Amino acid sequence: MKNKPISSYLNVDEFKQTAEKSLPRMVYDYYASGSDSQVTLSENENYYKNIKLMPRGMIDVSRIDLKTSVLGVDLSSPIMIAPTAMQCMAHPRGELETYTAAKNLGSHMTLSSIATTSVEELSEHANGNPGWFQLYVFKERSVTINLVKRAEKSGFKALVVTVDTPFLGRREADFRNDFSLPHGLLLKNFADLPLNKVQGGLNKYIGSMVDSSLTWTDITWLRTITKLPILVKGIMSPEDAHIAVQNGVDGIIVSNHGARQLDTCPSTIEVLPHIVRAVNGRVPVLVDGGVRRGTDVLKALALGAKAVMIGRPVLWGLATAGHEGIERVMTLLSEELRLAMAFTGVTTVSAINSSIIWNPSSASKL
Ligand code: FNR
Ligand code: LAC
Repeated sequence: MKNKPISSYLNVDEFKQTAEKSLPRMVYDYYASGSDSQVTLSENENYYKNIKLMPRGMIDVSRIDLKTSVLGVDLSSPIMIAPTAMQCMAHPRGELETYTAAKNLGSHMTLSSIATTSVEELSEHANGNPGWFQLYVFKERSVTINLVKRAEKSGFKALVVTVDTPFLGRREADFRNDFSLPHGLLLKNFADLPLNKVQGGLNKYIGSMVDSSLTWTDITWLRTITKLPILVKGIMSPEDAHIAVQNGVDGIIVSNHGARQLDTCPSTIEVLPHIVRAVNGRVPVLVDGGVRRGTDVLKALALGAKAVMIGRPVLWGLATAGHEGIERVMTLLSEELRLAMAFTGVTTVSAINSSIIWNPSSASKL
């Protein structure tokens, strides 16, 4: 499968199939797993299928523009790269390849705190403009302060604080596979600390290092150590979205961590409109989870997201063919989006709204 020409891949799922065949079982399972019975893992993708787009005709759709911007980040398409840990398990250059793909496409990536590439290494590769940095707030606050200062110094333009991981969800395959970071790889942001190795499984590792006593007052604390904009990632409840905005966050990422935390929570696309309503335009809202088609991207934007983020599709592209694989994944999604916009009669991202979603109750008003 891996020697199939990249240009012959026609959808995201084909990259998933190649990744499953080419990655070591332990690695593929870590990337693919959701928590517990993986109910929400299916729901994240399947809920999109319940949302119907309405085709429109006789509108000039000869020119479709996918460009948009989020918090000052110019994007060639409203598809951003979500932070996913330990990418060097998928490709020797890992996060560096992901950055190269983002750069080549005019997209954007967020580096995980527990990456296999340090903030300094990515910054050097990115000529000082590496993207956003996803932050786990650690029990040991000096580790957090050090990381934030280094990220700021390395040119990262925003912090993405993950708020849905006081503990790590139970991904049963990781227990079955006795998951550990393969020999020779390190969590490079902690090169000089015992934190740079995942010993005794990821749940124990995250449990030992991430601060499970985090509260909203810690956003205020973060403001005392950084001038960077702060987005919060892992918001699913409209109440939390409202509280987040009241606590001065600069952006919200609607996420259930790729269904890797609380199983049987709703899909992200199901709660998105409720969160958009709660935020009421005060800060940009992004969404991730289960985005596998351009029509999914269009639905997310129609329901109020400024852009989507993708996690696993990037890992599958990376595993298949490094940055070229990621570029093909994201190009396919953008081309599917372009066509879906044409079929629904919208020619710019800013013109996308909920009127393109089929709502039987509104049809009777004519
Ligand atoms: C993640 N995710 C994640 N999130 C985060 O804030 N920090 C992290 O280090 C990671 N690591 C990570 C590893 C792997 C293997 C996966 C699959 C996910 C969650 C990620 O940012 C994102 O929320 C989901 O991946 C989005 O769902 P999809 O696109 O994977 O369905
Ligand atoms: C995960 C953590 C590392 O989902 O965010 O695996």
